[in-house]
Amino acid sequence: MAEEFEPKIVGFFCNWCTANAADLAGTTRLQYPPNLRPIRMMCSGTLDPTYVLSALLKGADSVLIGGCQPGDCHYVNGNYKARRRVAVLNTILKTFELGADRVWLRWIAASEGPKFAKTMNEFTEHTKKLGKNPLSDYWNV
Ligand code: FES
Repeated sequence: MAEEFEPKIVGFFCNWCTANAADLAGTTRLQYPPNLRPIRMMCSGTLDPTYVLSALLKGADSVLIGGCQPGDCHYVNGNYKARRRVAVLNTILKTFELGADRVWLRWIAASEGPKFAKTMNEFTEHTKKLGKNPLSDYWNV
């Protein structure tokens, strides 16, 4: 019997909001799939698109980026910069037929543990439907 595909999901999370929401989800015992490899960043605005491409090239099946709610960025407008970068990134991913939907950007505040868990559940299911990242086999030969 074939094993169900379990995607590897890399998360780039703002230290002030989504990373804390992830902690809150954990400490309040909310259930979400264990497919996540989280990386804490000081702000979603520090996310260089090459980090996302690198994660996808090195075997991640999808990438979730979490930032502060619009207007709440601790560095004024980092989350707006992240939004522009993700738009460009998704265009590049579409061009290479990797599927722009492999990268999600979501605003999740520190107090939104339930929203974090819900997003992780949805994103994991979404990634399972997309299937394995086609580049992961290419680079692991
Ligand atoms: Fe959270 Fe900028 S400090 S997105």
